[in-house]
Amino acid sequence: MKSIEDSLNLRISPKAWHVQRARWGHPIHTICSYMASFPPKVPHYFIDRFTEEGDIVLDPFCGRGTTPAEACLMGRVGIGSDLNPIAYVLTKAKVQSPTKKSLLNRLSDLESGFRRQDTSSLPRKITMLYRKKTQQQLLYLKNELDYRKSTVDNFIMALVLGGMHGDSGKPSYMSIPMPNTFSMSPNYVRNFIWTHRLKPPKHDAFDVIKHRLKRAYKEKISPTKGKAYQKDVRQVTSIMRGKKADLIFTSPPYLKVIRYGKLNWIRLWMLDIEPSDLDGLLDDKHAVPKYMDFMKETINNLARVLKDDGLCFVVVGQVSGHRGPGQNESVELGNRIRETLRNKVNLEIVGLLNDRYDRHMKVSRIWGKKKMGKATKYDQILILCKDVKAVKKKEFKKKASWRRVSIPYSQTTLQT
Ligand SMILES: C[S@@+](CC[C@H](N)C(=O)[O-])C[C@H]1O[C@@H](n2cnc3c(N)ncnc32)[C@H](O)[C@@H]1O
Repeated sequence: MKSIEDSLNLRISPKAWHVQRARWGHPIHTICSYMASFPPKVPHYFIDRFTEEGDIVLDPFCGRGTTPAEACLMGRVGIGSDLNPIAYVLTKAKVQSPTKKSLLNRLSDLESGFRRQDTSSLPRKITMLYRKKTQQQLLYLKNELDYRKSTVDNFIMALVLGGMHGDSGKPSYMSIPMPNTFSMSPNYVRNFIWTHRLKPPKHDAFDVIKHRLKRAYKEKISPTKGKAYQKDVRQVTSIMRGKKADLIFTSPPYLKVIRYGKLNWIRLWMLDIEPSDLDGLLDDKHAVPKYMDFMKETINNLARVLKDDGLCFVVVGQVSGHRGPGQNESVELGNRIRETLRNKVNLEIVGLLNDRYDRHMKVSRIWGKKKMGKATKYDQILILCKDVKAVKKKEFKKKASWRRVSIPYSQTTLQT
């Protein structure tokens, strides 16, 4: 007998995205790095094959907004939500991007309004990273940017977050040399500075922001109908307000692999958020049994916002080094979710794909050979839907197109 996956005949082949360049994608995707983010080519493949212009694409764990941003670039309505405020700023910048002109005007006003700031109350862990003038500029921008109310200020904040730490030899970073993806612990950084007698670079914060802005707008960015939210996945129905998604493409946290608060303390300082408060909110610390409860609740919430003929893809990793019972075992989360939750959730789990990728592309490569790729050796993609019969009736594109154009959102294709 044919499996449901075979009878749906989706014919998904990871090779299709593996053969594309590693950095394939619009430059707006790279305004700020983010741990465990999708390469844009992956959501692109699924959006291109399984949706049409005007369709709604949802990612309720959107991180830096790769799925909703790619959806918007492709003329779909990209909706992204994530509980992490950094993710919210980055996603909003990508799906509600202002014009380059309005950004340059605001930057010019900010630059001419800049006055020296009193930095005496800044924590030592921040002052050790930047020269005096950069500290003053960051403090000034922190006070001036009304990123919650203004999309222009939000975009500038996203550029600031992107430039706060990284390779100090490049004109796109303001700090002493550091990884750009995550912040090393304050103690580690203090010792590193002392051992290597490091001095912060002399890059002007406004120059760094303008450099990053120019790069993001190197290719056209059209107006979109995208939306960004800072909500818990359990509140996804309130985000959708009665609308339903044609496609959900998402990746939840993988057990206890990443602490987004602790590992982003520098960017969180800019947003005035305590890292431990954020870590207390996110679902990134569960051991396996609780994780299954979390995934059950998540899938049932997603069922409420997916169209009957829509598809849902959930990317999870193969993980080891997690907490709780069987902590030394490696867990294939996709298999575990399928075995535990099949027939117990309101979406049908119709398939599972293994997506093996190059370990050298992973962020953990910078932790050295021993730890490289230890947390996640490969991803698994769960395929879910609400009504198999309704999906079967739909015609999907057989192959993805890799042509990159920024399609303006057209009112005539509105299907909401
Ligand atoms: C694997 S990352 C997703 C990365 C994303 N695919 C990208 O391209 O950047 C998982 C995300 O889940 C978020 N998260 C954790 N718990 C959450 C919750 N309860 N509700 C919503 N988002 C949550 C984290 O902040 C993190 O951004």
